[in-house]
Amino acid sequence: MLVLNGPNLGRLGCREPGIYGTTSYAGLVEACRTLGGELGLDVEVRQTDDEAELVHWLHESADFALPVVLNPAAFTHYSYAVRDAAAQRTAPLIEVHLSHPQAREDFRHLSVTAPVASGTIAGLGIESYRLALRALAGQNGGAGESRAV
Ligand code: DQA
Repeated sequence: MLVLNGPNLGRLGCREPGIYGTTSYAGLVEACRTLGGELGLDVEVRQTDDEAELVHWLHESADFALPVVLNPAAFTHYSYAVRDAAAQRTAPLIEVHLSHPQAREDFRHLSVTAPVASGTIAGLGIESYRLALRALAGQNGGAGESRAV
């Protein structure tokens, strides 16, 4: 499965730590890989600042039916290209956010990508990613078990 991160997330740790936390991007990658290993998942974590690259990764996930944890970062709020790529998904795709966009500036309240995701987890820092991985592994304690996550 793929954990895909959009623009500026490579700057985690030094980027607005009061909002995004002090864990570095390398720390996020490590956390996802460690939990993935425990859950028996083959987890590949990627980050790009480039919209086209993120679109191409989503095409790859659709072509190979790979589940995705997606943090589109700022693309969340305006990229119809990322939304249209995510809409082609052939496996579950969970949108995640470290912060709680609904509790922030108005422009963050709209997610153009969320309607084509299986679900969204936001506001819990790195735990948002961990919960998404657990859900994709089917270890969400039965929550949403009748849903097509
Ligand atoms: C973010 C929230 C977005 O609004 C912002 O543009 C980001 C990160 C988050 O994980 O909290 O870059 O997706």
